[in-house]
Amino acid sequence: MIAPSILSADFARLAEEAAAVADAGGNGADWLHVDVMDAHFVPNLTLGLPVVKALLAATDVPLDCHLMIDDPDRWAVGYAEAGVHNVTVHVEAAADPVALAKDLRAAGALAGLSIKPGTPLEPYVETLRHFDTLLVMSVEPGFGGQVFMPEVLDKVRAARRLVDTGHLRLLVEIDGGINDDTIEAAAQAGVDCFVAGSAVYDADDPGRAVALLRERVHAATPHRWTA
Ligand code: DX5
Ligand code: ZN
Repeated sequence: MIAPSILSADFARLAEEAAAVADAGGNGADWLHVDVMDAHFVPNLTLGLPVVKALLAATDVPLDCHLMIDDPDRWAVGYAEAGVHNVTVHVEAAADPVALAKDLRAAGALAGLSIKPGTPLEPYVETLRHFDTLLVMSVEPGFGGQVFMPEVLDKVRAARRLVDTGHLRLLVEIDGGINDDTIEAAAQAGVDCFVAGSAVYDADDPGRAVALLRERVHAATPHRWTA
């Protein structure tokens, strides 16, 4: 799955930017990744629920909201109730991630848990049994266009093993620095869903960029797609 991040899109033309990746000749975005930042959990400020609601009305692509905010226990469910497909909170910010996951699911969304590059996976394996997606950050959250941190792929491999052996049942998602040069290593480590911001929206043709990233994934992991 490919999830373009609108953080690198033109915020004055969000509906058109969503449409630019929606189809791509039947090869378009699976999800649209929306980065919500509060200038507290991360040193940047983006958008919140009113803009997300406007985007929900403007596109049929399922929204993947990545909440880089303090106190997600208070705010995240509103995104699920609004109709966001997957609502991801940070384990470093959530007071009670398991209760939050239950609330998100009860509101009809998938529940996602994200870990920053320096946060280990192992202490949260039991917590992750309540989640549908694990978002492994491959840059420090806060800004697009940063350099991919390959060392986080150890956590991707560990998560992949836990899923493949039946200990966890979730999608492994990666976010940060994913482009033509880095996506193959991430695919080989076992990622299911690739977030890409600048690699998609800085391209001349964002739809084509999505299709090309998908081709790279298929080329890197043919055994996962031909079975
Ligand atoms: C960063 C965000 C990312 C960002 C990725 O904190 O979570 O989703 O848009 O941008 P690129 O793909 O440019 O690294
Ligand atoms: Zn993100």
